Amino acid sequence: MSSTDVGTTTAPVPPQSTYQHRVADYWNAEENPVNLELGRIDDLYHHHYGVGDVDRSVLEGSDPALRQERITAELHRLEHAQAELLAARLGPLSPADRVFDAGCGRGGGSVVAHLRYGCAADGVTISVKQAEFANEQARKRGIEGSVRYHCRDMLDTGFQSGAFAASWNNESTMYVELDLLFAEHARLLRRGGRYVVITGCYNDTYGRASREVSLINAHYICDIHPRSAYFRAMARNRLVPVHVQDLTAATIPYWELRRQAEHLVTGIEDTFLTAYRNGSFQYLLIAADRI
Ligand SMILES: C[S@@+](CC[C@H](N)C(=O)[O-])C[C@H]1O[C@@H](n2cnc3c(N)ncnc32)[C@H](O)[C@@H]1O
Repeated sequence: MSSTDVGTTTAPVPPQSTYQHRVADYWNAEENPVNLELGRIDDLYHHHYGVGDVDRSVLEGSDPALRQERITAELHRLEHAQAELLAARLGPLSPADRVFDAGCGRGGGSVVAHLRYGCAADGVTISVKQAEFANEQARKRGIEGSVRYHCRDMLDTGFQSGAFAASWNNESTMYVELDLLFAEHARLLRRGGRYVVITGCYNDTYGRASREVSLINAHYICDIHPRSAYFRAMARNRLVPVHVQDLTAATIPYWELRRQAEHLVTGIEDTFLTAYRNGSFQYLLIAADRI
């Protein structure tokens, strides 16, 4: 190009964006007690929130150590209930089926699906530490032949087209563009395959993202989508909703308990509670068929 030409400069496109590097750094460094201490109870590591009624008796008692232990176990029970709720929507599946866990964290969701259906599972996370940790857990359980974790971009997995009977995102859609994500799920799922997502989304009827939603974005380095964006992007990518469930009321008790767990709080608890209560934020499950 001569000096008089007007054009754009093209820098080489990196395999991973600057944003994705930041997200990977976050999860490589992440060691929050709320994620690790709960998982240690039964080696099921969930990095998502919980649903269901709380046994408030865990807050009673004069022995502080016992109180902490009981609160930890109760939060884990609620998180596990959320994972089971998602897994129940993936089926029916058989041991011959293969499922894809997009943004798998330390791997709990894939283990839950495998234990429920006997199916093979491939989990994908952008964090090399998480993939190593999850593979080690699978080895310890003796299920490494069926449940495997990979450090890859869930938008571009390299897996074979049509190879999966079901796939899901459990609180990991807010890190990516939905059209790119759903195009990859539609590619990977066989015709009639099931896709499930559980996610926080901002409520379009309220308007644009509220202050609380912006604070949550900054806390986790993510970009929470509006509720409408899910349905638009699914429709554009051969994913047809069969079940939609608003889990907002079901997750509030989890957050009320967690804010009182002084040994586990991360500082974002009140923001979640305010966002849910003022209506600007919703916790949603959507199950869809791949047509
Ligand atoms: C809140 S955690 C949820 C983990 C897991 N789904 C669970 O429920 O325990 C978000 C996850 O999304 C993953 N993630 C974010 N962007 C990703 C990408 N582009 N490709 C793969 N994983 C990604 C992170 O590495 C992290 O494991």
